Amino acid sequence: MLSPIEKLGYSARQGARVAWYMGHYFASQRYRQAGNAPKPQPKKPTKPSLTAEKILTDLAALFRRDLANADAGIYPLPNDHDGNLRDILRRSRMFFADLPVAAERKQAKRGDEVYSHDLATELPAYFLQNFHYQTGGYLTEESAELYDLQVEVLFSGSANAMRRQCLVPLADYMYGRDQRHVKMADIACGTGRFLHFVKQAYPKLNISASDLSEAYLEAACDHLRAWPDIDYVHANAEKLPFDDSSLDIVTSIYLFHEVPPKVRRIIAAEFARVLKPGGRLIFMDSLQLGDKEGYDGFLKNFPANFHEPFYGSYIKEDLKTIFEDAGLVVKEQSPVFLSKLVVANKPE
Ligand SMILES: C[S@@+](CC[C@H](N)C(=O)[O-])C[C@H]1O[C@@H](n2cnc3c(N)ncnc32)[C@H](O)[C@@H]1O
Repeated sequence: MLSPIEKLGYSARQGARVAWYMGHYFASQRYRQAGNAPKPQPKKPTKPSLTAEKILTDLAALFRRDLANADAGIYPLPNDHDGNLRDILRRSRMFFADLPVAAERKQAKRGDEVYSHDLATELPAYFLQNFHYQTGGYLTEESAELYDLQVEVLFSGSANAMRRQCLVPLADYMYGRDQRHVKMADIACGTGRFLHFVKQAYPKLNISASDLSEAYLEAACDHLRAWPDIDYVHANAEKLPFDDSSLDIVTSIYLFHEVPPKVRRIIAAEFARVLKPGGRLIFMDSLQLGDKEGYDGFLKNFPANFHEPFYGSYIKEDLKTIFEDAGLVVKEQSPVFLSKLVVANKPE
């Protein structure tokens, strides 16, 4: 049980994060409205419409759920590890310096600036995109440095709290197991934010952090430097360099909406292949159509303002069928604010 002071500290920290990232969001909107950047695309009204009040209510519910999990001892009181004040301010300056460049890219609808024939001989074309019109795609150190700020701005400071909900099925799996003998891989780990929370809860868990972006893996290595035992694996999720039936847990967060439908199925088969019988997949990505009342219009509009070429197909996917066709048994599918959590087991 957490003390009242700890709960108050949590509320103050998360409140400050939400204010900071929402502040960035509104400042970038103002920049647009001042005529410095293209106006957002006019949106077709969709019913039922999602009000700011509903979003804020759901956001508050997410934080209550996060705190309740910590209070129940499912995971430790979260520490977001956003860096020191100097780092936070430096990233904020980078964000605003990048705004005009990203806005110009968006106006010109240049979502494949990072694509080149040379790179396409080594990396899949679907990966060579400026997702969200981000500078450098997934290919540069600067992009990796800015990524988490951009994601938190997009989710109003809730991205880490959403990722932490994956710790609930993880705790359920870990119950009664010795963490020193459990092997887990986070596929498309990005800059390692989720793994930081995993290590806060299970410091002795054997973890592989895998991603196709070398720049993002390096950023993950830096963010996770307190745990030098993590193994970093540069790999395409379509062809994972893990033996058949070698992992107890596979996690993957926010990958599927950025790959084409055919690739989702190949990756699902890889998850199933590398899991041991009795192993568990813990998967999170965006909410999908029909998951939450009032959100469908919002989800459909999302790719209009962000370069997300595969998002439209993702929100219509039947994830249960994808994972079950791959040989897993889906145990849970549940909305987590703007995300969706799927838990699947590999049969014994
Ligand atoms: C939206 S980010 C999510 C990162 C992280 N999981 C998070 O929670 O923020 C998508 C990640 O998928 C990685 N990625 C995209 N395609 C991939 C592939 N085929 N194999 C492995 N990683 C891939 C990108 O490099 C990027 O780090």
